[in-house]
Amino acid sequence: MKDVLEQAKSFAKVELGGDSSGHDWWHVARVAAMAVKLAQLEGADAAVCELAALLHDVADEKLNESKEAGLAKVEGWLLRQGVEASVWSHVLDIISTMSYGGGGGQPMRTLEGRIVQDADRLDALGAVGIARTFAYSGWKGQAMHDPELAVRETMTAEEYRKGKSTAVNHFYEKLLKLKDLMNTEAARAVAEERHMVMERFLKAFYAEWSAEDADFM
Ligand code: ADP
Ligand code: NI
Repeated sequence: MKDVLEQAKSFAKVELGGDSSGHDWWHVARVAAMAVKLAQLEGADAAVCELAALLHDVADEKLNESKEAGLAKVEGWLLRQGVEASVWSHVLDIISTMSYGGGGGQPMRTLEGRIVQDADRLDALGAVGIARTFAYSGWKGQAMHDPELAVRETMTAEEYRKGKSTAVNHFYEKLLKLKDLMNTEAARAVAEERHMVMERFLKAFYAEWSAEDADFM
């Protein structure tokens, strides 16, 4: 299994290396490291969690012709590695369930699946989550903030495509809701901390935006 994990790292690096929309190799590396820690805290199979985390974005629709094509690519790779049938079917189950859209999708079927989903969601929170949000916004060409845009908790697909959201609005659409969507206790505890980091960030951001931070003088 150790060999397979090393091979999975190389495979993910090659497949994702140059992506700048937030699905780069380092996102995957962070998710895998978090998945291993959560697995230890929750008493789950750490190797399955790590393998699924390493492969979770290789099958992403954005990098493949379709979700099915992406999953077939991962399946072919797992078969060539000669991993046990129980392991590859579990890893494929995790990746395919996770990719059915973050929030309203199907619930994950196993503890290992719940852990990998938590680890992926945690990477959208805290200091790293803030950085990814602004990086993604730049990539997409949307503004970092628009004080004339009332805070919107939902945006239509059409509004998204027209770039009507902003990086700051993304906190209200998604990021501030994620801590209540964690599956495991361990992830919830980490999410609480990262949630506070984002709240402190937004408070400072608004104060600086309107020069209120000069008011103490
Ligand atoms: P994942 O599949 O890893 O959950 P997404 O594709 O949803 O990630 O997003 C990648 C990164 O970009 C995340 O950090 C996410 O919060 C951020 N992001 C996604 N959509 C937006 C958006 N409309 N505006 C700003 N940031 C976004
Ligand atoms: Ni991801």
